[in-house]
Amino acid sequence: MGARLIIVSNRVAAPDPKGTPSAGGMAVAVKAALKNRRGLWFGWSGQVSEEPDPLPRVIDAKRVTYVLVDLSKNDVQEYYNGLANSVLWPILHYRGDMQEYSRADASGYLRVNRMFADKLSPLVAEEDVIWVHDYHLMLLGHELRARGHRNRIGFFLHTPCAPPDILQTLPLHEQIFGSLVHYDLVGFQTANDRDNFARYLVARGASPTRGGAYEFEGRQVKLGVFGVSIETKTYMRLARNAGRSAMVALVKESLSDNRLVLGVDRLDYTKGIPDRIKAFERFLEDCPEWRGKVTFLQITPKSRSDVKEYGEIESEVTGLIGRVNGRFGDAAWTPIRYVNRSYSRTVLAGFYRAADVALVTPLRDGMNLVAKEYLAAQDPENPGVLVLSEFAGAARELEQALIVNPHETDAVASAIKHALEMPLDERRDRHAPMLSHLQVNDITKWAEDYLSALADGRQTRRLLDSL
Ligand code: G6P
Repeated sequence: MGARLIIVSNRVAAPDPKGTPSAGGMAVAVKAALKNRRGLWFGWSGQVSEEPDPLPRVIDAKRVTYVLVDLSKNDVQEYYNGLANSVLWPILHYRGDMQEYSRADASGYLRVNRMFADKLSPLVAEEDVIWVHDYHLMLLGHELRARGHRNRIGFFLHTPCAPPDILQTLPLHEQIFGSLVHYDLVGFQTANDRDNFARYLVARGASPTRGGAYEFEGRQVKLGVFGVSIETKTYMRLARNAGRSAMVALVKESLSDNRLVLGVDRLDYTKGIPDRIKAFERFLEDCPEWRGKVTFLQITPKSRSDVKEYGEIESEVTGLIGRVNGRFGDAAWTPIRYVNRSYSRTVLAGFYRAADVALVTPLRDGMNLVAKEYLAAQDPENPGVLVLSEFAGAARELEQALIVNPHETDAVASAIKHALEMPLDERRDRHAPMLSHLQVNDITKWAEDYLSALADGRQTRRLLDSL
């Protein structure tokens, strides 16, 4: 048997009606990367069961075999809501001050990482290449090594990586962040993220090798930069045809002649939604000529609602939107439309294409695929304008966007005005190079670049041949 690709992630986009769909970028990207590729995708079924089945559930789809494990209520609380989303998520997004650490959650995280290794281990053959995704499963590489697996094992961090001073605020940082050296390759979204982690390793006593790897406690780990991307071609096609969607037509009609400003984010405190609403409010204050002529549609599916901070951000956002709508709206015009649901890819592509401006203004973001999807969805002859936070990984690649500091309300307000009033020539000049960049650097290239860096030459050929 040739080398197989084994993907491991907490959330799995399995073709299962019972599987929890994810609004998150990680599962979407991995799904796209696996498209037309043979492999095995291992992860959480999305189901909670008090007596998890000792054997994982197996779903054989066309080319991909999904192997899914259930979690207990306690696992979900301590590992997913607890250490992963109340501790690692804020720390990696530079918010060490927001972590809610507890020993119980830390041991739940270790327990679930071990359980994943126990259940995956019997499925691993010698030649397989294993690719682990995201902060939920940092320890998995170490756990697999402890079970004797000498395979090529890689890890990719979809979130940002904070500087060492912030990583060190995690009480068990040596055990959790330090264990990443058990992977052969650790991939990051941007050079900044990679450099932060390299500095963390060096501060712990690692030394750089000639080949660009780091040596630490007898292990060698390579660090690399692989900016995640989208299925650019597919997205362009979807957006061209999305006009046929009844929902898109309905929204366009409901706008009358109003211009459309769009925001699409999971409801998360890292996304800067309150700051963005305040900027839109400032724009309406400063530019009375635009009142009644522009609608801001903010699409915000809820996520991780069992984590306290997510409930708090929800009340803050709804309060702010109420204030702006009450202050500037009238019986015939609502300045901000706010919806807590997700839409299909096709409908979303239609919204992107219809939008004159996209506001992608996170306070910190690993990459942000909304920025890329928005650009791919535009009509190249008459493109809209992307307003992009300098703190999204995407800003390192999409330099022709209107780059803003999301904390600077006045600057974001004037960027909205600039975007709405930008002449066609300038819109085209900005859009064209970004679209070309995305046509070359799409999701397939991301997966190929990563796997070529991870696997040895022979394995790479086999893995890429299965495309
Ligand atoms: C977003 C983040 C990913 C993360 C995912 C988890 O996509 O960018 O880094 O893995 O959310 O989402 P979930 O819905 O599973 O908590």
